[in-house]
Amino acid sequence: MSRLAGKVAIITGGAGGIGKKTAELFLKEGAKVVIVDLMQDDLDRTMNELSGQGEIVAVKANVTNEPEVENYVKQTLEKFGKIDVFFNNAGIEGKVAPLVDQKIEDFDQVMSVNVRGVFLGLKHVLPHMIKQKSGSVINTSSVAGLNGSPDVSPYIASKHAVVGLTKTAALEVAEANVRVNSVHPSPVNTRMMRSLESGMKIDEKTLSKSIPLGRYGETSDIAYLVLFLASDESTFITGSQYRIDGGMGAL
Ligand SMILES: NC(=O)c1ccc[n+]([C@@H]2O[C@H](COP(=O)([O-])OP(=O)(O)OC[C@H]3O[C@@H](n4cnc5c(N)ncnc54)[C@H](O)[C@@H]3O)[C@@H](O)[C@H]2O)c1
Repeated sequence: MSRLAGKVAIITGGAGGIGKKTAELFLKEGAKVVIVDLMQDDLDRTMNELSGQGEIVAVKANVTNEPEVENYVKQTLEKFGKIDVFFNNAGIEGKVAPLVDQKIEDFDQVMSVNVRGVFLGLKHVLPHMIKQKSGSVINTSSVAGLNGSPDVSPYIASKHAVVGLTKTAALEVAEANVRVNSVHPSPVNTRMMRSLESGMKIDEKTLSKSIPLGRYGETSDIAYLVLFLASDESTFITGSQYRIDGGMGAL
């Protein structure tokens, strides 16, 4: 298996559910991988699981902090010499509450990680891809970036903003043969959904009834879509929004 042979990939939120599974698949497909995440403990646990599976490095960074973003880019270049794939994926769900009950601090925190973090990643990774005249960026949005949903207004706003950043960046860097797309999962079996279920006072079985395929996505479902967008199989795709939602978009 070598769909990413010779490629270097950065994955933010690389110690979380979707990020870690994608790192595992990227390694299997021949990529060298840099995982970026907030907590050293989570990174250490992930490295314990994945370091036997290929060339992988962990860099601790808060994606909202510009010097730390610059540092994960620098560390990647020092270790592997280039960046071919950027999975701009770190995100938080925020508080579940009606818009009128959301505190401004809660709004700012979600916007900071999900929008400022994605923006800073693009700002500091794209120059290197532009220079090498190739690269693929995959931003993680959500079905929450395409549709509304009650009680998660900061999350919805932030994931819609990711679409705007994706389209703008795609247009700005197309000339340099760099591609930027976004992925839009419906509920996926990770910590984030456990948190949202508890905030919404709903369980997986009940929520799954609103998904035509009748189940949550698994992290591997998302990883395979990201793999396609990262690989040279998708070289004519840019500025696009990829739903991966068990059919919810058809409702
Ligand atoms: N799980 C779902 O149902 C679902 C659905 C649609 C979209 N998403 C999106 O997928 C992405 C990954 O989520 P997940 O489900 O794997 O959740 P997760 O909580 O398992 O993983 C998110 C990771 O991001 C990291 N992170 C959070 N804030 C950070 C920061 N400031 N700096 C660096 N790292 C930070 C966390 O430590 C965590 O490891 C998120 O952007 C999320 O919004 C998830």
